[in-house]
Amino acid sequence: MTRTAFGQGCHLGFRFVGRCLVEFAARSPGSPERGSAGSLGRLSSVVAMALYGPVDRLDDAQAADVVTLASRAGLAIGHTPVGDEDWARRSGSGDDGFGAAWATGADGKLVAYVQALRSPADPSWSAELLIDADERSRTADLGAPLLSAVLRLVGQHGGGTVHLWAAGGGPAHAEVAARAGLEPHRTLHQMSRPLPTGLHSSVPLRAFVVGQDEEQALEVNRRAFADHPDQGGMTLAMLEERMAEPWFDPAGFLISEIDGRIAGFCWTKLFLGSDPLVGEIHVICVDPDFAGRRLGHELVVAGLDHLAGRGATIGMLFVEGDNTAALALYERLGFEITRTDRSWTTTVATST
Ligand SMILES: CC(C)(COP(=O)(O)OP(=O)(O)OC[C@H]1O[C@@H](n2cnc3c(N)ncnc32)[C@H](O)[C@@H]1OP(=O)(O)O)[C@@H](O)C(=O)NCCC(=O)NCCS
Repeated sequence: MTRTAFGQGCHLGFRFVGRCLVEFAARSPGSPERGSAGSLGRLSSVVAMALYGPVDRLDDAQAADVVTLASRAGLAIGHTPVGDEDWARRSGSGDDGFGAAWATGADGKLVAYVQALRSPADPSWSAELLIDADERSRTADLGAPLLSAVLRLVGQHGGGTVHLWAAGGGPAHAEVAARAGLEPHRTLHQMSRPLPTGLHSSVPLRAFVVGQDEEQALEVNRRAFADHPDQGGMTLAMLEERMAEPWFDPAGFLISEIDGRIAGFCWTKLFLGSDPLVGEIHVICVDPDFAGRRLGHELVVAGLDHLAGRGATIGMLFVEGDNTAALALYERLGFEITRTDRSWTTTVATST
């Protein structure tokens, strides 16, 4: 297969957005005047920085470079927007639910990348910004035009609500979002603790039965997350999509059944191949009819016990910053915040 590296041959079929040297010089507070002699040293490092896209597919070599950038960007486990089989298939197929734009450095190396992926199960898009650790000081200057380019493609592909996620998102990502017209949306904490906990659940639980429990589990999820529509809106298609993934194991989807109905569940996920082995409390919820009886506590204890039994030495989960009940539950179980992700959102109109 012909290798098309980033920065080489991008003009062949790809739309060139523009060189951004001048924008860096003009926008950076305290930066020397454009073209002044004193600016040469500073600017020489960005002289060949160029933006490309938006495109609706990546070739194999470009996809490989994006995966490499993701590792240089220092993404944490549990938040890997690129690299899995689904991403490889969709980014490489010309799928109209995929869009990307990127920046290369002087040597043609990929240094910044923005993508948007439309959820197959609902009409929203998830956008991601990857930036090389060495280029973090330019996050806003690189990220904003790339995101704007990708949003234009989203408009051409039917538009919709777009959520930009930033792992450990700080002020620079907020600046990217603001410049591209996005509003702050969610705050998501990643919490972790070592396993095993030494605790064991005392309530009877059973494994999820595929083909039997889907509808009831979705109903409990909807009722429990009524105040968090992003999570409460899980549909059968979304559930089945996740159940089709390689990590899915019904034995790790623990159900509490009381009086013949699902009272709550703890769905766990093993990050197969991670070292040390990380186990996630993927979804935990208790039907409001059964809240406040320590069932949530028991389910998390059982989920962590299950993960430890499969060899996980780190327990991990994501929780919304405003979910005080869950935060209190996890803190009592020894979880600590290890990272905070933020999201911003906008709705893109359909364009031609
Ligand atoms: C979070 C949730 C699972 C807790 O389940 P629960 O069975 O009601 O909780 P428990 O009775 O086991 O309580 C466990 C601890 O949670 C905390 N807690 C529970 N409800 C709380 C509330 N409304 N406010 C503050 N703390 C609360 C308490 O610290 C409690 O421990 P304590 O009684 O020893 O102090 C449940 O509220 C739920 O399903 N919420 C919606 C879904 C959700 O947010 N899931 C977590 C996503 S990350």
